[in-house]
Amino acid sequence: MLVDTHCHIFRKYFDDIDSVIENCIYHGVDMIIVNGTNRHDNEEVLKLVKRYDIVYGALGVQPEEINDYTEDNLRFIEEHIDDDKILAVGEIGLDYHYECDKELQKELFKKQLDIAKKHNKPVIIHSRDCITETYNILKETNVKGIMHCYSGSVEMAKEFVKIGFLLGIGGVSTFKNASKILDVIKNIPLEYIVLETDAPYLSPEPYRGKRNEPCNVSVILKKICEVKGIDYKDASDVTTRNVFLLFDKQLKL
Ligand code: NI
Repeated sequence: MLVDTHCHIFRKYFDDIDSVIENCIYHGVDMIIVNGTNRHDNEEVLKLVKRYDIVYGALGVQPEEINDYTEDNLRFIEEHIDDDKILAVGEIGLDYHYECDKELQKELFKKQLDIAKKHNKPVIIHSRDCITETYNILKETNVKGIMHCYSGSVEMAKEFVKIGFLLGIGGVSTFKNASKILDVIKNIPLEYIVLETDAPYLSPEPYRGKRNEPCNVSVILKKICEVKGIDYKDASDVTTRNVFLLFDKQLKL
């Protein structure tokens, strides 16, 4: 069994969600976590978890969706965070890639971390071009979670692991210029790694440029096995167990 810990299978990207789910099952992907990024997506997450057995959800306002930051939208997250099959607050975080109001992003990030803490939920973190700042905030907060699409150094990865975070590894690990992330895969024990696609984005090679789907976590796991020189079935068991341990779910491998 494989788990995709981070995807966005919303109707605006996929007009064939039934077949996306069938492809998952065909490839042994029996659990996927659909991450909300704004109010509209968060509402769709609630519908998807009801409709499909293998779909679980995370609710959050992503930093690039800062215009979606209203008290009402945060209240919506808090109202539904303890719903059945909602596992985490996500995706949330900081993104300094484009010019932005950094203070406002931090305020939104911290408010959502507070929701996670209050409801004892893990978080799924988006961090671009501000890894140290993200780390400093998380270190103070005392929550567990996943660093989605981890792109930092090995040293920083060890620090995140120490404060209770797992590293989400996705399609970037298959790209030609992936040396930094390959170093992380080599040097961080599998017990701290989880799989993700970020579908519809970041398709792994050889599908780069095409629409990504959650079933492609199998491609990413093959890459990890190649880099670490380990067996596919063993690696699948460990990465799946990591997810179950984080979310306190009964382990059924
Ligand atoms: Ni994402």
